[in-house]
Amino acid sequence: MLDNVKEILISEEAIANRCRELGAQISQDYKDTVPVIIGLLKGSVPFMAELMKNITIDCEIEFMAVASYSGTESMGDVRILKDLDRSIIDHDVLIVEDIVDTGKTLEKVKELLYSKGAKTVKVVSLLDKPDRRTVEIEAEYVGFTIPNEFVVGFGLDFNQKYRNLPYVGILKEECYKGA
Ligand code: IMP
Repeated sequence: MLDNVKEILISEEAIANRCRELGAQISQDYKDTVPVIIGLLKGSVPFMAELMKNITIDCEIEFMAVASYSGTESMGDVRILKDLDRSIIDHDVLIVEDIVDTGKTLEKVKELLYSKGAKTVKVVSLLDKPDRRTVEIEAEYVGFTIPNEFVVGFGLDFNQKYRNLPYVGILKEECYKGA
């Protein structure tokens, strides 16, 4: 598995440090409310775990699953695989995402959460790949802005593998070209 990683882009330590900063910022910004923090399965799991340790205000944790990618190319259309099983009417919602790439996933999920009656919907994403954006959407909180490379680890996968790596690494091209 490790032979397929060309380079470590973001170390475990850098992620932990950045999650402390993001947690402090989010705790400050949401101090007058109880946000519903919604992780998008499966990629957000390690990031959610690291981030929530650093959130020091009352909050509620939920998960949703949406389908967006097969291999390395966007399918364009986003399907809801696991919906919320609670009301978010009049709640401040914070979506936790692994990466904002084209932005299509977030655009659809934000739309859906507003249609369910959320008061506000913001996004915290571990990674941002702005060069690939096709829709106008930005995460309010970003861990790291990265170049246009296919990355894996710390929740991010290629065909469901590599999510367990404790860092974010660049996958060797030969691993996904032609896949
Ligand atoms: P978007 O809808 O194009 O913004 O895609 C977001 C989703 O695509 C993310 O939640 C990831 O699951 C996946 N994705 C985008 N770029 C990468 C990458 O470099 N590595 C692994 N998954 C990625």
